[in-house]
Amino acid sequence: MKILAIETSCDETAIAVVECPGAKKIKAPCFDILSNAVSSQIKIHAPFGGVVPSLAKREHQKNLVSVLSRALAGAGFSVRYKAQITNYKQNTKHKIQTIETILEREPELLEKFKKQILPMKPPKIDAIAVTAGPGLEPALWVGVNFARALSFLWKKPLIAANHVEAHIVANWLAPIREYQMSDIKFPALCLIVSGGHTQLVLMKDFGKYKIIGGTRDDAAGEAFDKAAKMLKLGFPGGPAIARRAERWKFQILNPKFQINSKSQISNLKQRDDLEIKLPRPMINSNDYDFSFSGLKTALLYLIKDLQNKDYSLKKITPALCAEFQQAAVDVLVSKTIRAAKQFKVKSVLLGGGVSANRELREQLKKAVKEKLTEVYYHQPALEFTGDNAAMIAAAACLHLKEKKDWRQLKAKADWRI
Ligand code: KG4
Ligand code: ZN
Repeated sequence: MKILAIETSCDETAIAVVECPGAKKIKAPCFDILSNAVSSQIKIHAPFGGVVPSLAKREHQKNLVSVLSRALAGAGFSVRYKAQITNYKQNTKHKIQTIETILEREPELLEKFKKQILPMKPPKIDAIAVTAGPGLEPALWVGVNFARALSFLWKKPLIAANHVEAHIVANWLAPIREYQMSDIKFPALCLIVSGGHTQLVLMKDFGKYKIIGGTRDDAAGEAFDKAAKMLKLGFPGGPAIARRAERWKFQILNPKFQINSKSQISNLKQRDDLEIKLPRPMINSNDYDFSFSGLKTALLYLIKDLQNKDYSLKKITPALCAEFQQAAVDVLVSKTIRAAKQFKVKSVLLGGGVSANRELREQLKKAVKEKLTEVYYHQPALEFTGDNAAMIAAAACLHLKEKKDWRQLKAKADWRI
């Protein structure tokens, strides 16, 4: 069956069309991604160093209709229009009124909907899925209301998807036109790390989850974003820090490069003299929780201290990035391995925006291989690490029986799996 999925929980407006197995075939699901359109709002939020919920809401309103067109075209649907729009309007007067009530809080979206979607013939999809939570409430509501309006207009069932479950299920997605059979066995332990979430989730089967640990303050991605802001590296912070850390690693590992570059040698010396070292918060605590706010504060004090000693922030930034990233990776890897041992899992999975981090991917993979020899490790393809709607379709596919009337669906900003 074909699911059209909508994601607006944070700063990506995303719509995908995915061919999913039917409700009875979820034992080893295989998803065929027909289209996966994403419109990023990074440029809008960058000046603020983080996602601004009211701006995210405004941008989702602006972008949803064009992202829908891209997703439908990408999936091979040729958008066709009703023969006579005037008749259509007359015949369906009550529908227009209802669409107006559904989208009354999104006036800009309503206008585009009336102009571009009302006259369209419904595409041949079987259901509509939407992220209902967790996420930023104003942003979630735009997607939810858009999905409700489409469900009502096209008479398609509506399914609510959980964003964290979707990041987990992203492990079962293969890029467009690639085919993947999964070797993932249960129980599995999933480390979900994103801008809004950091959780260790024990997965007994599809739909059966237990959160065994989570962050007590900042999410891992949030910590990367805040650290990058302190280092004046822009937003989003994760990729910016990872790039600098990569540069630092290259300098350390490549002696030829060091010999050839005087400035690099002085950088290196600085780091040796300075002994840049950050804490690994809660690494030895007797639970599976995390805390990243202390790490961020430690970085702040270290920066201040070094600046007081007249070190140039620009020069020491790559070393600081490498140490910050390694501190976060150490804690995440250590706790994941310990939990995997305790719960005797058969697979370890990674997911969420921070799972794009190369060091985290490589070091967790290596740790599982060396310390949990019988355990299968899997991480999502890079295109499914950040927010996307293909993963929303996949998560919804696990809950096909829980179809919702469009009137009942609500955004649930703190929905736990
Ligand atoms: O999953 P996601 O796209 O959105 C949420 O659900 O929050 O995650 C976004 C987060 C941001 O905090 C971003 O800085 C982080 O993922 N991120 C990374 C990397 N790429 C994205 N963090 C570390 N290293 C990366 N390479
Ligand atoms: Zn996410």
